[in-house]
Amino acid sequence: MATKAALEAQLAVVAGFEAPKVSLEQYPTPPDLAAHLVHLADLRGDIESTTVLDLGTGTGMLALGAALRSPARVVGVELDPDALDTALDNARRVGASAPIHWIRGDATRLPLCLPDDQPVTVLMNPPFGAQRGNEHADRAFLDAVSRVADVSYSVHNEGSKEFVESFVADADGELTDAFRATFDLERQFDFHDADRRELDAEVFRIEW
Ligand SMILES: C[S@@+](CC[C@H](N)C(=O)[O-])C[C@H]1O[C@@H](n2cnc3c(N)ncnc32)[C@H](O)[C@@H]1O
Repeated sequence: MATKAALEAQLAVVAGFEAPKVSLEQYPTPPDLAAHLVHLADLRGDIESTTVLDLGTGTGMLALGAALRSPARVVGVELDPDALDTALDNARRVGASAPIHWIRGDATRLPLCLPDDQPVTVLMNPPFGAQRGNEHADRAFLDAVSRVADVSYSVHNEGSKEFVESFVADADGELTDAFRATFDLERQFDFHDADRRELDAEVFRIEW
């Protein structure tokens, strides 16, 4: 298996959102966090020969990270066609060899039929539900995950652990790993007053 540092370097060419849409909470996952998440999932045996789903794939960062390892296939689901155009360009740039399918659709109502005989791993950095009118957006994503995944890795905003634990317990799943992560984000939206800022997040591995 290649190193995490090598994966991070390969993901450094992934372009972010050209015109990020605030209503869809389009923040890109930085390459260091994406590499960390994918490398950890691979070490735990959750990538090789599995179907990897990236829900709310945006410009493809997590899907492409997984595709650089040895999954059976990768599927990226995204509502925004502009983001998917960039994801396609990114796939060419990254040059991963695993089959990747990009699907335009609502990740909370998965437009997919998945093979029964292969484990499904979800990687996702869903909208946090931080924008007014979009509260609990991550709950709808977790709900979709609980229906299709054997295991998932998801990024949530700081302070989500209690909510995630209770959601997972209700679904008879098991939260096996939790860690904090800091995003170093470039200015995305007009209402951000600094050119860069740090965002605290939490990452969870869940067995469903
Ligand atoms: C926080 S961004 C993360 C993007 C990307 N996964 C990454 O890690 O860089 C959340 C993404 O979810 C997408 N999204 C929001 N609601 C969605 C939905 N219902 N179905 C599919 N994608 C959605 C947004 O357009 C955005 O690309």
